[in-house]
Amino acid sequence: MLEEQKNLVDRVREEVKQRFSGEGSGHDWWHIHRVCQTARAIGQEEKADLFVIELGALLHDIADHKFHGGDDTVGPRAAEKLLRELGLNNEDVIRKVVAIVKEISFKGAGVPTPMSSLEGEIVQDADRLDAIGAIGIARAFAYGGFREREIHNPEVELEVHSSFESYKKGKAPTINHFYEKLLLLKDRMNTGEGKRLAEERHVYMEMYLDQFYKEWEGAK
Ligand code: ADP
Ligand code: NI
Repeated sequence: MLEEQKNLVDRVREEVKQRFSGEGSGHDWWHIHRVCQTARAIGQEEKADLFVIELGALLHDIADHKFHGGDDTVGPRAAEKLLRELGLNNEDVIRKVVAIVKEISFKGAGVPTPMSSLEGEIVQDADRLDAIGAIGIARAFAYGGFREREIHNPEVELEVHSSFESYKKGKAPTINHFYEKLLLLKDRMNTGEGKRLAEERHVYMEMYLDQFYKEWEGAK
């Protein structure tokens, strides 16, 4: 990255860190920080544009639809506004970063979520890696608590959503989220490195669920 690009990334990082510090639903600054680290590592491997990756990772959750009444147009607009305010005028970079923010989210088990650039594929993989494994488990329950969801309720049936609308409306217990999203992510990774990293985290979630159901039955 050029010196001038590094400076802009630093300013975006400061702004995002300030806005997201202390957030309690698992979408806090440290989530964004981890996504940046992972995206950078995959980006180096894939020889992708690290400037676009850094900006996309920093801004990917800037105004997530989950926190804006389901409106998925707020995020891309907020990202563009911030980049222009901080003086970026490279239209190609702005277009790519805004597309990442727009396209990144999971929209239901049966809904494809293609990314329009290699950099987007990488940031999406990094975001999804942070949704699985030990960290992913912690984030899922943090989010469930934030939404006042039950941990588990065996009487609530599993639902695999075929539209973004029904996925967004879901209010199921957090354990169901493993089946509607988290366990599906390993097969939806875009890059070779993403697939490789997902494997270990996926196995860890399977072990976690086995133990969870064992304890659910109580000591015998
Ligand atoms: P995405 O944009 O793909 O939704 P995010 O970075 O916004 O990804 O984070 C999504 C994370 O939020 C999930 O991995 C999970 O931890 C949490 N989350 C979202 N919806 C639910 C839900 N219904 N139940 C539990 N956790 C959820
Ligand atoms: Ni995210």
